[in-house]
Amino acid sequence: MTRHTFTLANGVEIPAVGFGTYKAVSQDEKVVSEAIAQGYRHLDTAAFYKNEEAVGKAVRESGIDRKEFFITSKIWRECLGYESALREFGESCRKLGTDYLDLYLIHWPRPFDLKADWKEPDRETWRAMEELYRSGKIRAIGVSNFLPHHLNELMEQTSIIPLVNQLEFHPGYIQKAAVDFSQRLGIQVEAWSPMGRARVLEEPVLKEMAEKYEVSVAQLCIRFALQCGVLPLPKSSSPERMRQNMDVFGFEIEENDMHCLMTLPPIGWSGEHPDRDRVKI
Ligand code: A2P
Repeated sequence: MTRHTFTLANGVEIPAVGFGTYKAVSQDEKVVSEAIAQGYRHLDTAAFYKNEEAVGKAVRESGIDRKEFFITSKIWRECLGYESALREFGESCRKLGTDYLDLYLIHWPRPFDLKADWKEPDRETWRAMEELYRSGKIRAIGVSNFLPHHLNELMEQTSIIPLVNQLEFHPGYIQKAAVDFSQRLGIQVEAWSPMGRARVLEEPVLKEMAEKYEVSVAQLCIRFALQCGVLPLPKSSSPERMRQNMDVFGFEIEENDMHCLMTLPPIGWSGEHPDRDRVKI
């Protein structure tokens, strides 16, 4: 099987489709074990998901060399700061049962309290992450849910440009300004909820297009991300759908269909945005 990868600006290779573990995995490692059995080697977790122990257990129990995996975790938005970042990183490694991470991200640019200062805490967190990166404990460092103004504030006083920015991205919510800005800086964009947590799967335009390519709407969404240069992180609890979500390299979406997908009216937004309170959808 061909290995499909993206290469980060520092040369680190990253499997082109990752497995999102939010909500799919609570305390139980069975879902991750199944994803590994289906061929996923890129696993995306976070301190906030409360499943790092389960992910670590599944990796160990697979009997597959740790180096074969690409493991991402994230520092939570209420834990920003230099000392806190060092501590949180240590905790994530301990729970995952690993002595290094492939990728470590700042989960959200600011705490829930929208009045709280975030610029300095972000930079302090990043300073800790740069140190961990330079000492070899993290292979790549990045951010998540950072819009251009958050990135600019972070980069004002830091030496390493983030290697990754993980954003909500799917047909109907492609965050073009943030994606273009990141890509121009050489930042690899990753897509969380590449099918809008299944909210976009019933969209008629998508259904019709999926039929044309003889794929599922989920596969169409995942392929769409890849053709935008964006690394998708689909979640699923079913072995069949896990497999299907990786089987996206046998077709190509034509240019006009890409335009059509890029210009859909807004659909499937999660209700989450870094600069405002959560909207219940
Ligand atoms: P399930 O766990 O039953 O497969 P996202 O990754 O965009 O957040 O979406 C995850 C949701 O999409 C889950 O509810 C998941 O349900 C569903 N899903 C994942 N893969 C597929 C697929 N290939 N076809 C249909 N639904 C899918």
